[in-house]
Amino acid sequence: MKILPRLKIAHLQPKYPLIQGGMAIRVSTGKLAGSVAREGGIGLIAGSGMELDEVRDEIAIARSIANGGIVGINTMVAASKFRAVMETAAKAGIDMLVAGAGFSRDIFDIGRDYGIPVVPIVSGDRVAVLSEKLGAAAVVVEGCEAGGHLGTDRLARDIFPEVKGAVNIPVLLAGGVIDQNDIIEAFNTTKADGVQVGTRFAASFEANVTKPFHDTYLKAEQGDVFRIMSPVGLWGNALATPFSDKVQRGEVQQLTCVNCLKKCSQRFCIIQALIEARAGNLEKGLVFAGEHVFRIKEIMSVKDIFKMFFAGLDYRD
Ligand SMILES: Cc1cc2nc3c(=O)[nH]c(=O)nc-3n(C[C@H](O)[C@H](O)[C@H](O)COP(=O)(O)O)c2cc1C
Repeated sequence: MKILPRLKIAHLQPKYPLIQGGMAIRVSTGKLAGSVAREGGIGLIAGSGMELDEVRDEIAIARSIANGGIVGINTMVAASKFRAVMETAAKAGIDMLVAGAGFSRDIFDIGRDYGIPVVPIVSGDRVAVLSEKLGAAAVVVEGCEAGGHLGTDRLARDIFPEVKGAVNIPVLLAGGVIDQNDIIEAFNTTKADGVQVGTRFAASFEANVTKPFHDTYLKAEQGDVFRIMSPVGLWGNALATPFSDKVQRGEVQQLTCVNCLKKCSQRFCIIQALIEARAGNLEKGLVFAGEHVFRIKEIMSVKDIFKMFFAGLDYRD
């Protein structure tokens, strides 16, 4: 059975055509990114909300685990330290720059200056074409089924052919890849050049989260993921927690601000809510998850997730 395309993003050639999506705040740190890189995927550290020293430290941790594998960084364009985090990572020798939650022209300058491939996350052909013109090495098409902040209300598989038909760089699919059938569908039916996977890796032992976060994932049933308007100004996919219930009822007031975003509605503090969720304090935490989270029945190691995804699959020529 030949299914897998050989993914090439500029000079980068991972063993498997898979990027582990960046997951803030501190869900995908050096340990997860390094483990994914070691197994043959591209591992991303989520830089949003990190101090610059922390970015350097997490890259060093990832490198110590990755065994020469590919480690990149993802930062939300909406983050006020977007440029500083990306430049810090570039100086520290990161392999790939991924920009999510918004569009940035700055990132292409950094990519050019340091010779690092830039991969924007897009949700339509217009931004994909602009990205290619500005020098993107690939784009990730993320749909409304994905975890985290969303740029569209359309499914990735519906948007994908429009983007694929509009650009000549690799196009990866993000949203709803949980098991091997999804991998086969992504490569055989959708004809993706690669996939980006978030939720399945958030439910790994190497993700930097605590048991209550994982338990929220494991308890999820079909239809539990709901859209919450984030202070970033984008909808986000999340699972209900006591905190999100309070936000929906308008009972949360933002008391402090660390200016983590370029623009913030101050409806609630998104960075604090994501930090609390990661730490397992669901009274104050917002748990981001993709719509397919209900299909995850166990927390797995990164090694076993790769086996589950790719065992028995071979490369298309
Ligand atoms: C907990 C969590 C946090 C996320 N944080 C970010 C982020 O900081 N930046 C980003 O571009 N995408 C973020 N995402 C999206 C993922 O990188 C990925 O594109 C998405 O999860 C793919 O869909 P899936 O969850 O169905 O696999 C996040 C997703 C999750 C589940």
